[in-house]
Amino acid sequence: MATGKTSELERRMDALARLAGGVAHDINNMLGAIEGYATLAQRGLQPSSQLHSDMEEIRKAVGRATSLTRRLILFSSRQPALKVKVELPGLLEELSARLTAGLRPEIRIGASFKPGLPEVQGDPQRLELLFSNLLLNAADAMPGGGTIGLAAEEAGGFVKVSVSDQGPGMPPEVAEHLFEPFFTTKPKGKGTGLGLAEAYGIARQHGGRIEVSTAEGRGSEFRVLLPAPGHAGSS
Ligand SMILES: Nc1ncnc2c1ncn2[C@@H]1O[C@H](COP(=O)(O)OP(=O)(O)OP(=O)(O)O)[C@@H](O)[C@H]1O
Ligand SMILES: [Mg+2]
Repeated sequence: MATGKTSELERRMDALARLAGGVAHDINNMLGAIEGYATLAQRGLQPSSQLHSDMEEIRKAVGRATSLTRRLILFSSRQPALKVKVELPGLLEELSARLTAGLRPEIRIGASFKPGLPEVQGDPQRLELLFSNLLLNAADAMPGGGTIGLAAEEAGGFVKVSVSDQGPGMPPEVAEHLFEPFFTTKPKGKGTGLGLAEAYGIARQHGGRIEVSTAEGRGSEFRVLLPAPGHAGSS
């Protein structure tokens, strides 16, 4: 089943992004005030006092809330992405090596990049986050182990990076909600449902998009299309 963008899907995602981004942005400002006052209050307290450690708990909770609002802001595309030249094969190779070291030994990443790929313009840290979310999902989809395919090629003014797995694939009722924030089928404490929302937002900030092909029992393939500057059809 192909779940490329339909205009209905796009509209729903735009509405979600506006809502999530607006709420996250305002709450972020309030969190800044809570953090600031908690820090000020803490300064006047004995480090050994109960109140000092209570303030510390407030600051830790603010830290957790801020990382959540940051992820939602990333999804909502509000923050402009840094624009530097990014050589994707290098970035992907480094990321794969780092992730493989932390993954179960039964998971392999099989990378194949077409030579002479154009550079893209973007924010390397965010692109890394995008691809790491896709690779980690692919690994999660293969609890018994397997190979994650990672390929990159040029296609019609875009650099197309695909991440494919040999997992169970997804039924339409999952595929339909994939990119929505907080949509997860993983048990509590295992998934937040923000990985693909973040990936969606990051691709959009770069003038790109994500396409998905999946079928139950046949694995999944996520394709990220990022404009290759200087090519017709790209921004
Ligand atoms: N490669 C895949 N194969 C099968 N299902 C997938 C795959 N990638 C994503 N999904 C489904 O999409 C859901 C949403 O993915 P997403 O990355 O947004 O959240 P998550 O992985 O559940 O949690 P998080 O990424 O925040 O830890 C997953 O819970 C899973 O059901
Ligand atoms: Mg995930």
